[in-house]
Order: sequence, then C-alpha cells, then structure tokens
Amino acid sequence: MCGIVGILGNGPVADQLVDSLKRLEYRGYDSAGVATLEGTHLARRRAEGKLRNLEKLLKTSPLQGHIGIGHTRWATHGKPTESNAHPHATARVAVVHNGIIENFRELRQQLEKQGAVFSSETDTEVVAHLVDSYLAIGASPEDAVRQALPQLRGAFALAFIFTGHDDLLIGARKGSPLAIGYGDGEMYLGSDAIALAPFTDTISYLEDGDWVVLTRNSAVVRDELGVVTVRDTLKSGASSLVVDKANYRHFMAKEIHEQPEVVGHTLARYVDMATEQVAMPVTLPFDFKDIQRVSITACGTASYAGFIAKYWFERFARVPVEVDVASEFRYREAPLRKGDLAIFISQSGETADTLAALRYAKSQGLHTLSVVNVPTSTIARESEVVLPTLAGPEIGVASTKAFTCQLMVLAALAVAAGKARGELSAEDEGRLVHGLVEVPRLMAAALGTEPQIEKLARDIAKRQDVLYLGRGTSYPLALEGALKLKEISYIHAEGYAAGELKHGPIALIDENMPVVVIAPFDRVFEKTVSNMQEVAARGGNIILMTDAKGAAEATIESTVTIILPDMAAAFTPMIYAIPVQLLAYHTAVVMGTDVDQPRNLAKSVTVE
Ligand code: F6R
Repeated sequence: MCGIVGILGNGPVADQLVDSLKRLEYRGYDSAGVATLEGTHLARRRAEGKLRNLEKLLKTSPLQGHIGIGHTRWATHGKPTESNAHPHATARVAVVHNGIIENFRELRQQLEKQGAVFSSETDTEVVAHLVDSYLAIGASPEDAVRQALPQLRGAFALAFIFTGHDDLLIGARKGSPLAIGYGDGEMYLGSDAIALAPFTDTISYLEDGDWVVLTRNSAVVRDELGVVTVRDTLKSGASSLVVDKANYRHFMAKEIHEQPEVVGHTLARYVDMATEQVAMPVTLPFDFKDIQRVSITACGTASYAGFIAKYWFERFARVPVEVDVASEFRYREAPLRKGDLAIFISQSGETADTLAALRYAKSQGLHTLSVVNVPTSTIARESEVVLPTLAGPEIGVASTKAFTCQLMVLAALAVAAGKARGELSAEDEGRLVHGLVEVPRLMAAALGTEPQIEKLARDIAKRQDVLYLGRGTSYPLALEGALKLKEISYIHAEGYAAGELKHGPIALIDENMPVVVIAPFDRVFEKTVSNMQEVAARGGNIILMTDAKGAAEATIESTVTIILPDMAAAFTPMIYAIPVQLLAYHTAVVMGTDVDQPRNLAKSVTVE
C-alpha cells in the first residue's frame, strides 16, 4: 500500500509531486506529504486526510525545491495523523516508504539507545534514523543506505533525499514495486508507471533487492549483492491512458458503465469471433490434458472471480479446482503436484498475498498463470503465462470492470481447457463461445435496470444488514454483492449459498432484513425459489434478480423483481454483476459515502 514518488527536476517540483500523488491515491489516501530540498535544508509539508488537504497546505506554505519526494499513505503502523504522515526525516535525510518494516521495534529500541528521538508511531521513521546514524559518523548517502538496507526486514519500496545533495535521489526495492523514470536531464522514481506518466514514458522496474542511485543524468542500479546491474527500459504507454470521470459523478459509475465495452475488448482478445472458437493470445506452456488439479488463488473480489471460474473449469473441463484466498494459501503449505496449474487473479498485479502465493506455487514446480489488469505488474512479470484483462485503469477502489473482465478471461480459458481435455465437442465449444460473444450486448441491456435499482437503493440505505443469496455460480456472485455493498456503503452484508440459509442465517430474517436473491432461471432455480419461500414465510423482503422466465415462475409476495435479459445459463455472473454493482453504488450515493475512496481501504494492497 501507499504510493511513493521522487523527482530530480530542474525547477520547483512540489506541484509535480502532487500531480503524481493524485495518480497514486488509489494506493492509499489516509494522509499525504512531500519533502523537498530547500537550499541547505530539507523541508516537509504533510497533511492528514485526502491529498486536497496537502494541496491547500502547499498553497499557503509553498515549497520551491528542485528535488523532492512524495507519499500518499494507507496506514499500517500508527493512526493517519499528520505526525505519522510521510516523508519521515532527520536533519540529514528524508524518506518515503511503501510496505512494512517488520523488525522496526528492535531497530527503534536500538536507535533510541543511541540517542535518536522519534516523532511518529510509524515503522518508517526507523529507516530515516538508521540511515542518519551512518550519515552522522561521516558515511556518504550511498554508503549509509548500503549499510542500512540489509538491516531492514519486511517489504519496502523506499525513496531518499539528503541535505546538501541537490543532485541525488536514492531508491530501494524489496517486495514492493518501484520504477525508475528517465526524463530529459531529469530523473524520477515512482510506485508505478501511472505515477510517472505525466513526466516520462521511459521506465525500468527495479527487481527485488535492487537499489538505485540517481542523478539528473545517471541511474546506477545495484542488485542485492551490490553488483552493478542493468534493468531493461521499456515504454510504459501509461501516459496515453485517460484517467478521468468523463461525465460521471464517480469513477465507479463510469467503470460500471464501461463494462460492455471493456469486456468486449477482453472477449476479442480470447475468442475468434468469426469462427466462434476460443483463441488464446499465447501458446500455453502446458497441455491441459496433463493437469490433474487447478489451484486458483486471489484476494477479495478477484477471489470471487476465481470461485465462479471453479464452476466453469469443473463443468467444461472436468478438472478439479481448488480456490483459496491468498492470505491463507500462502501459509497453509498446501500439497501441490509438480506440473499442475496454479492460476492467480489480480487487478493490480501487486497484491502482496497473491504474489507470495505465486512464489510458493512456483517453488513447488507448478505452472503459473496470472490473470492481471496491469501487464507490467510484479505478478505479471513473475508468472509463466500472463493473460491480461483489458479493463483499462480501474480507479474506483471497489472493483467492478476488472471483475467482469477477469470472468471473461477465465470463462474463455475454461472453454479452452475443456476443448484440450476432450470434454467439449466442437459443437459445445461453438455454443459456449457464442454465449460469450453475447455477453457485452447483454451487459448493456442489464444497465437498463439502473433507474429501478436507484429507487430500490433509497430503501436499502435505511437498513442495517442485507443478505445476498445464490446457488451455483450465483453463490460467489452473492459473496461479491455483499462485499461490494459493505465496502462502499458501510452497511453490513453477508453472502450465502441459498441452500445454507436454513443452517443458520435464517435466524436473522425478519421484516427489517432485505434479502437479495440472485437467481437466473437455470437448473437450480426451483431450489432457490424454495429458499425464497422460507424467507417470505418469515417476513423477509426479497429483491429477486432474475430473467423473465424466473419472474413468471417465482410469484412470491413482498418480492421486488429486477428483470435481466434471457441468456444461456453458463455465463450469467457477468450480466448479474451489473445490478449487483449498481445496487451497491446507488446505496452508497444515497448514504453520501466517499464512493471512489471508501474509508480504510486502498486499491492496491501491497502489505500482508
Ligand atoms: C473489492 C476489491 C478488493 C480486491 C482485492 C484484490 O472491491 O477491489 O477486494 O479485489 O484487494 O486486489 P487485486 O485484484 O488488485 O489483487
């Protein structure tokens, strides 16, 4: 979490730092700060809360320095106060940090014994004091950083500037991403290419263990062993990405509405529309016939995409699939068979737990395939095969279009697996691919439910709890619906397999409990109707998301029905995701929450 940036410029850099931080706010937005070298001393401006507070502060107390670092924070150690905001500094050095220094307590004790005086509760401040302890005894900045880095345990991306050095910026990476940006007589560091897009599209990514010494005209990278090394430069293309809200009130609304288009782009990458066959954009380095078990690992919404894909892989390819949340998978020492397939799903491609799970699977000799939205991300770079989603930048913290694009890639892959394993005939393949080709159009039709959902949201906004139920692929979507509602509206919500209702949650049902039932007219529809009867019998209010056939069959009192287009049963989650997202969105709008940046969350979770 947290976003960092560093600039070695030729004019005042404070505005540029803020501009870059705006693009990094998706990584955290509890507080923000910048430090610049003002003549002979380091100066900082830090503010609690959103970046606009820092902007205001810089208006009243401007900075003029030509070299600086900046930070937007997602609090790990210490509350999001001004004193805990980065940069952290001594008189000699200022540092910004993304990640966690696990051994900060012992380092802090040791430094305090030596006389260091701390002014924050953060883990990061130890880095400033540790480097300072070497500077104090005459080490050069490079030497001080070189000696400090091996003492830091945990995950970090760091950027340093130093008093008295107006042509020096040092960066280091271990576990958290960091990119170098090459300008014309200027140099940059940033958490990702998007942060550097306003300045340059020529970047290189540091590898784990690397640290770099930048001047305006040079970049010397050293690896973990201290050996000078060269990292490839590439053209990021990030500068061409449009990151604005268009005419929408929130990024989330824009991203929900973009889905027919971006899911369509993703579809076009994975199927041949003319022949209605799957067409993977890369040759897979394994044969699905040899795979005995697929393991899917991800976090949050991405894990629900994986959970839906489990139904597809098992049905189309008859291959057993296990789905894990990455934070559990990485520590449970799952027995894995060498040569099997491990799939990782991540919008950002930087999620720490998912990355650790990927590394574990690799160490066990599995084929690793990632479905990511950021092709230059660490997960993409470390995977054997990358299947990109073409969702474009997703700015709203609550994932919407990345989720449905993940589903599209996974659906196409599951069909490809079924074909390769001889479980799907050419006719089956054609039927399924035809179903996928229909998805963007059906998504556009599903957006037509918005006015009805907007009205419904006014009622949901008055409730304290909401239940989501579904069977089959609608069950993981129920989990996603509940997650979406709670993360942006702060209303408590739970998702359940509809059949589980009577095993506990039915005790919660009364006239105050809305129950969202996701039930396309499929082979388990009747079973779900029985569960709805159980809810109705106990006074619960049902919101049924179904199609015309389902609406005709389920005539249960006190039910509001949202009618979605008729479609082939297999791929309903991509369509039903739309009303689920819209319900969360409009409820949050009624509640007046910060829809795009809900409290306590961050878009990219690079800590455990
Ligand atoms: C919820 C949401 C999160 C992410 C999760 C994984 O709306 O966005 O649950 O899905 O943090 O993030 P990525 O996909 O970047 O690995």
